[in-house]
Amino acid sequence: MENVFIMDHPLIQHKISMLRDKNTGTNEFRKLVEEIGILMGYEALRDLPLKDVEVTTPIETCMTPVISGRKLAIIPVLRAGLGLVSSLLTLVPSAKVGHIGLYRDPVTHEPHEYYCKLPDPIEERIAVVVDPMLATGGSACSAVDFIKQKGGKNIKFMCIIAAPEGLERLHREHPDVQIYVGHLDRELNDNAYICPGLGDAGDRIFGTK
Ligand code: PRP
Ligand code: URA
Repeated sequence: MENVFIMDHPLIQHKISMLRDKNTGTNEFRKLVEEIGILMGYEALRDLPLKDVEVTTPIETCMTPVISGRKLAIIPVLRAGLGLVSSLLTLVPSAKVGHIGLYRDPVTHEPHEYYCKLPDPIEERIAVVVDPMLATGGSACSAVDFIKQKGGKNIKFMCIIAAPEGLERLHREHPDVQIYVGHLDRELNDNAYICPGLGDAGDRIFGTK
């Protein structure tokens, strides 16, 4: 599928397996999410535009590439997406951070918005939406809808685990969005949880139940 990138790096796969383990505690879970975010961010940002600038080394003056043009906006979907923000800030410390608050109704599984604040001007930025889980795709599609309504044009979505249903829906509704997936899992269960998945990402990152 064009614009869908499923990671195959062994380090990412290894760390995702550790995340899945129900005996992995909050502290280790957070660290693993952050490490996976750095590894995935490295892949997701490989098409950032460059421009040459003049730099004087101890030997001579040369033209050398730096990241150019549109600035980055990291946009976590609350809550669980917060776990991936520090990873992308490690890679691009000058990035701005927006927030989209969504929760899934436990019965209908429909996303509900409770917060949205994006850095200006969003239309001039590359927006990287981060959320560890892409299940039905409802939350991801709503987040991308908000960003587009506010003028966002260049959007990437990064998740650690996706269900086939959610990946297909996000790609169908937003074929222009580049989607980065750490691992594509088997299916959703009747509660719209990803199988085998890792459980509730927000609860595991923040130690809630
Ligand atoms: C989780 C997850 C995604 C969403 C994915 O959040 O972090 O945002 O579910 O499910 P979907 O693809 O079916 O929409 P949740 O609503 O549990 O909120 P939380 O992060 O605050 O726990
Ligand atoms: N949200 C999660 O945190 N986990 C799932 O498996 C599905 C949605």
